[in-house]
Amino acid sequence: MKEVLIAPSILSADFADLKNEIQKVEQAGADWLHIDVMDGRFVPNITIGIPVVASIRKITKMPLDVHLMIVEPLKYVNDFADAGSDIITVHIEACENNAEKTINAIKNRDILAGISIKPNTPVKDIENLINKVDLVQIMTVEPGFGGQEFMADCLEKAREVRNFAEKHGLKLHIETDGGINSETAKQAIDAGVNVLVAGSYVYKAPDVREAINSLRPVAR
Ligand code: DX5
Ligand code: ZN
Repeated sequence: MKEVLIAPSILSADFADLKNEIQKVEQAGADWLHIDVMDGRFVPNITIGIPVVASIRKITKMPLDVHLMIVEPLKYVNDFADAGSDIITVHIEACENNAEKTINAIKNRDILAGISIKPNTPVKDIENLINKVDLVQIMTVEPGFGGQEFMADCLEKAREVRNFAEKHGLKLHIETDGGINSETAKQAIDAGVNVLVAGSYVYKAPDVREAINSLRPVAR
């Protein structure tokens, strides 16, 4: 069985207590830390930026999975790499005509590059990029806010990307973001997803370790 990585999103953490909130999920066995960067333009919300990522870098060993929900990501990928990102994912819808250039700028920093598609964006829009990235992120909610309901229809796209990757012999992470809980995690894994982002489900749980473990596949 393929290893499944759990990436708690700090969007649902208590920002006044961020260090403890991050170390709590690290000690509970989280694999990556998901950081949602929003600019109030690509999405109707504003969250955190480069200095916060740099500060987080100092207090955790977890790989930082940075999800840029910003317009013109090419302008900022080097800043986010300097801040200590291990994975940078950009939205195809935000890249205009320079998606490949943006991916190359990330790869030039020797970190993992991801491309994301919103719920209404088809896989064909990123088909020419799949062999250039390390990760494809399938949004299972409209980006912008935590705590929304999972859009199961989007998993068809995860299947499509997994089939494409297998057909072409590509080693690729497929990540879902939005609405993940112990039930939807099963559906996602079934569709070929191997990285699960989970914000509210993990951070609102009374027992974080139990919540994280409940997302992992059980041997069948
Ligand atoms: C939404 C963000 C997600 C969000 C997920 O735009 O990209 O990472 O934190 O939150 P949940 O897991 O609560 O849907
Ligand atoms: Zn995200």
